Amino acid sequence: MKLLVKLGGTLLETAERRASLARQVKHLLRGGHEIVVVHGGGKRLSRYLAGLDHKSEFRRGLRVTPPEILDAVLRVLAGSVNRQLVADFQKAGVQAVGLTGIDAGTVQASQLDPDLGLVGKVERVDPGLLHRLTASGYLPAVACIAGGEKGAIYNVNADQMASACAAGLGVNRLVFLTDVGGVLDGEGALIRALSAGDAESLIQEKIAVGGMEAKLRAAIEALRNGIRHVSIVNGHEPDMLARASEGAGFGTELSP
Ligand SMILES: Nc1ncnc2c1ncn2[C@@H]1O[C@H](COP(=O)(O)OP(=O)(O)OP(=O)(O)O)[C@@H](O)[C@H]1O
Ligand SMILES: [Mg+2]
Repeated sequence: MKLLVKLGGTLLETAERRASLARQVKHLLRGGHEIVVVHGGGKRLSRYLAGLDHKSEFRRGLRVTPPEILDAVLRVLAGSVNRQLVADFQKAGVQAVGLTGIDAGTVQASQLDPDLGLVGKVERVDPGLLHRLTASGYLPAVACIAGGEKGAIYNVNADQMASACAAGLGVNRLVFLTDVGGVLDGEGALIRALSAGDAESLIQEKIAVGGMEAKLRAAIEALRNGIRHVSIVNGHEPDMLARASEGAGFGTELSP
C-alpha cells in the first residue's frame, strides 16, 4: 500500500516521540508499504520567530509569511526540524532522505494571497523524485516548502503540502498524525466518521478552527483529488500509525 504520512509539528518536539514514529515507519516499510512523509514545524518556528521579536500571525490557520521571515522559515522547517527528523529515522535504521518541494521541482506553488505574503498555493506536483526514492528503498521526508516561478520560494501549509503530494503520488491512504484525538464536535466529543460535506459544515459553523480548519480543507481537497482514505489521528498514542494505515486508527476517518 502507498501511504502519505503527515507529521504534525508538535509530534516532532521530543526525541522520544520522534523515535517512536521512526520505529512505526520502519515497521510499515518492513511490511512492504511505500511511504512518503511530509512534516510541519509550526510551534518550533513560532518560538524561533519570537526570539527574533517577530510575533506569529495566522489567518484561517495559515501563517502570514512576510518576505523578511523566509530565511527563518527555511532555517527551521527545511533546516533544524527536517534534519533532526532525518537523523532520528537514520538512528532507527530507516534510510531517510530529507528534502523540500523545491528539490527536483517536486512541488511548485504560486502566491495564495498577497495579504499572506509568501504563503504558497500548490499548483503542481512532480512525483518523479519521490517515486524513485521509494522504489530504491529510501524514505522521503519532505519539509513544507515549495518552489515557484522565477526562483520563488513559498511557505506552504504542511497539511496542504501533504494533501497535494498524496494526490500527486496517487496514494491509497493519507494519514494526518496530529496532537489531538481527531476532529472534535461542538461538545468536544470525537467524530469518528466524517464526509467531505460534514467537514465543510464544521468549518462554516466555526467548530473546526485554526490548525484543524486548515487540516480539514486539506483533507477535503485530497478526497476531491481521488484519495479514498483520509484519517486524522493522535500521533502521541502508541502504534497509531500502524493502526491508522489499516483504517483502525481510533481517530476521525474521512470519506468522499
Ligand atoms: N474541532 C476541532 N477538533 C480538534 N482540534 C481542533 C478543532 N478546532 C481547532 N482545533 C485545533 O487544531 C489543532 C491541530 O492543528 P495544528 O495545526 O495545531 O496541528 P498539526 O497540523 O498537527 O501541526 P503543524 O501545524 O505543526 O504541522 C488542535 O491541537 C486543536 O487545538
Ligand atoms: Mg497544522
